Amino acid sequence: MDIAGKVFIVTGGASGLGEGTARMFVREGGKVVIADLQAERGLAVAAELGTDKAAFVRCDVSQEADARAAVAKATTMGKLMGLVNCAGIGPAAKTVGKDGAHALDLFTKVVTINLIGSFNMIRLASFAMVSAGPNAADSARPRTRAGESPAHAS
Ligand SMILES: NC(=O)c1ccc[n+]([C@@H]2O[C@H](COP(=O)([O-])OP(=O)(O)OC[C@H]3O[C@@H](n4cnc5c(N)ncnc54)[C@H](O)[C@@H]3O)[C@@H](O)[C@H]2O)c1
Repeated sequence: MDIAGKVFIVTGGASGLGEGTARMFVREGGKVVIADLQAERGLAVAAELGTDKAAFVRCDVSQEADARAAVAKATTMGKLMGLVNCAGIGPAAKTVGKDGAHALDLFTKVVTINLIGSFNMIRLASFAMVSAGPNAADSARPRTRAGESPAHAS
């Protein structure tokens, strides 16, 4: 895909893998929405990349309203053509440690952010991309399997 001029959402874009991905999109001529919890860092990265190329949206990926706001922002910047889910947490704990069994709320938190949050972003970004239709210039559109658009996938 030709990245130039297209818009991408990068969750977790304020740090680490996501920040690197956001920088890569802008380096290749694309635009990014940095969707992250860390406002100070996300705003700084967006400012460095340029306000015409990058925007920060404070977003908890597991929250419907936050995810919708990130997608809405992206659609104001141009044609949304992709989502990269980098937001996540990876706390380490033993199933049985010296203090007893693994805390269930910790496991629930990881699944809520890493799994449910990722799917929350995927479903809303995909809906926006499919609704917008193919790119007039190069017919590029999101695909699930070769030759098949999500709207027609079974
Ligand atoms: N870096 C690696 O080598 C590596 C390897 C395997 C897996 N991972 C996983 O990939 C993910 C990203 O790794 P990283 O190294 O970039 O981590 P990181 O901590 O540098 O970045 C993660 C970003 O996600 C954001 N975030 C956390 N919870 C969020 C939420 N609910 N909504 C929105 N943003 C949220 C954080 O604010 C942070 O900016 C993590 O889940 C990590 O466990 C990383």
